Amino acid sequence: MRQIYSNYNEEDFQVWKSLFERQMLNLPYAASTEFLEGLNHTQFVADRIPDFSETNEVLQQLTGWRLAVVPGIVPDYTFFELMSNKRFPATTWLRKMEELDYLEEPDMFHDVFAHVPLLTNQHFVDFLEELSKIGLEYSGNDYAIELLSRVYWFTVEFGLILEREGLRIYGAGILSSAGETKYCLSDEPRHHEFDVQQIIDTPYRKDVFQTDYFIIESYDQLYHSIPEVKRLLKQALEKRPEESVSA
Ligand SMILES: [Fe+2]
Repeated sequence: MRQIYSNYNEEDFQVWKSLFERQMLNLPYAASTEFLEGLNHTQFVADRIPDFSETNEVLQQLTGWRLAVVPGIVPDYTFFELMSNKRFPATTWLRKMEELDYLEEPDMFHDVFAHVPLLTNQHFVDFLEELSKIGLEYSGNDYAIELLSRVYWFTVEFGLILEREGLRIYGAGILSSAGETKYCLSDEPRHHEFDVQQIIDTPYRKDVFQTDYFIIESYDQLYHSIPEVKRLLKQALEKRPEESVSA
């Protein structure tokens, strides 16, 4: 699959512009420094839907990653296989004007605007690649994948980072949502230090704002947590031997 740029219509450009402009009002004070720097590298602008071939050139140069066009949510195996080969799955379609605030499935604004900037950060992509290799190893083992998804969820999608200026967002699930951008930094939800065991023990919901967020100190910390993820996952599976038989 590939992006067919000539298929975008007036509404698509309007949707991209509205979402982009709205988030650019919020993000300078809420998004992590690395995300904002990454966004600069990507050269995304309000008036133009990103062209994947240009985005890939930027990514290739900085971290060796690239986008792989997918129709929507892909099976776990494909998801992990792509990322273990430095390819990030991304859709090319945009939500409709009446769906600006909520979507059932991630669209291109989420996949590209919210995920791509951090794909320019080496520690972050190294973490993604290693996490995906664990995913491949346990592919077919639903329980293992469920636990591993929690690590992905509370970092790549809903992670916060403590910077000198305060708490900032790096999770793409938050960065593509105007509402959650404000909410996650407020006093309403619970904020925890990054703790792999606690994350593995925390189920999540996809249809509401999160009640719990985990805070990292650096992307290096994420990358260095990989051995612990492997160890704790193995430990959790040993406690449930009947579930740990791989397909
Ligand atoms: Fe995502």
